[in-house]
Amino acid sequence: MLDRIDSVLAEIDSFVASSSKEVEDFRLRFVSKKSVINDLFEEFKSVPSEQKRELGPALNRLKNQAQQKLNELSNGLTAKATGGNDKIDVTLPPIYNSEGSIHPISQTKNRIIEIFERQGFNVEDGPEIDNDWNNFTALNFPENHPAREMQDTYFVEKNPDIVLRTHTSNVQIRLMNKKKPPIRSIMPGRVYRNEAISARAHCFFHQVEGLCVGENISFKDLKNTLYYFSREMFGKDTKIRLRPSYFPFTEPSAEIDISCFICGGSGCKVCKKSGWVEIAGSGMVDPNVLENCGIDSTKYSGFAFGMGIERITMLKYELDDLRLFSENDLRFLKQF
Ligand code: DAH
Repeated sequence: MLDRIDSVLAEIDSFVASSSKEVEDFRLRFVSKKSVINDLFEEFKSVPSEQKRELGPALNRLKNQAQQKLNELSNGLTAKATGGNDKIDVTLPPIYNSEGSIHPISQTKNRIIEIFERQGFNVEDGPEIDNDWNNFTALNFPENHPAREMQDTYFVEKNPDIVLRTHTSNVQIRLMNKKKPPIRSIMPGRVYRNEAISARAHCFFHQVEGLCVGENISFKDLKNTLYYFSREMFGKDTKIRLRPSYFPFTEPSAEIDISCFICGGSGCKVCKKSGWVEIAGSGMVDPNVLENCGIDSTKYSGFAFGMGIERITMLKYELDDLRLFSENDLRFLKQF
């Protein structure tokens, strides 16, 4: 019987099929219920049990071999029908590469992180839903400040108030509560405001908060840090200027402008002919804020800043509609 198994195996090995009829012949002869292999299995039943130990595995191997060959023969025919595996039909329509890319907002965020990390800042994270203390009160917002109104803030719960954070400054408070100086961190994240959606405003957007607290931290450090950032982000020739401003949590406060990188300062549409564009709010951390977080304001000082990621991205790519970032239009996203 072993000889017969060998000869069937040889037959299988040398079988070639060039038509589906021949593949079917192969199936009938070697794989079907009426195949020679099935006959051998029938015969096997009456073989003395000493021989079964050797014949069993040989028969199983033969059966598998036949099935495998059948697969090869029918695949070979399909490949032939489609012109062979290795040939390319240049008349077929192209297969588009549908691979995704990193969203422009994430690209800007990553770039901002990279630049501040080089200056020794680490990245911290905080929640988008927070209490009134972290989002307003500890940041020195007066009781009747307009930002606390329903028109500006999304409330999740009232009394005690839980809000969708209106800025990333809530992470400053959380950070100073859990960690004592020296602190040098940036805090990127999404923020929410109850605004009508338009080209210039959205109900959610992204900010990067910065905080540096330690001994002898001065306004000079703030200026230098943001000057370095601006040159890395917008180009080596970028200049910065600071304009006096007001935020409840910083004193003094300043708006950071950079020289318009589109027109180089001579005046264009982007800078509204002024030669300058605003990129961030900033200031020296108000001593009240330090004290609210249990940090001795006579020993430590710090600076903080906050910038809009959408705004920086719009400036960099000369975009004029904020809504583009959240509409997921592939014609827009594919350009990044
Ligand atoms: N929280 C401010 C806003 O949302 C931005 C900001 C301004 C953050 C000045 C700061 C800062 O840390 O010092 O408009």
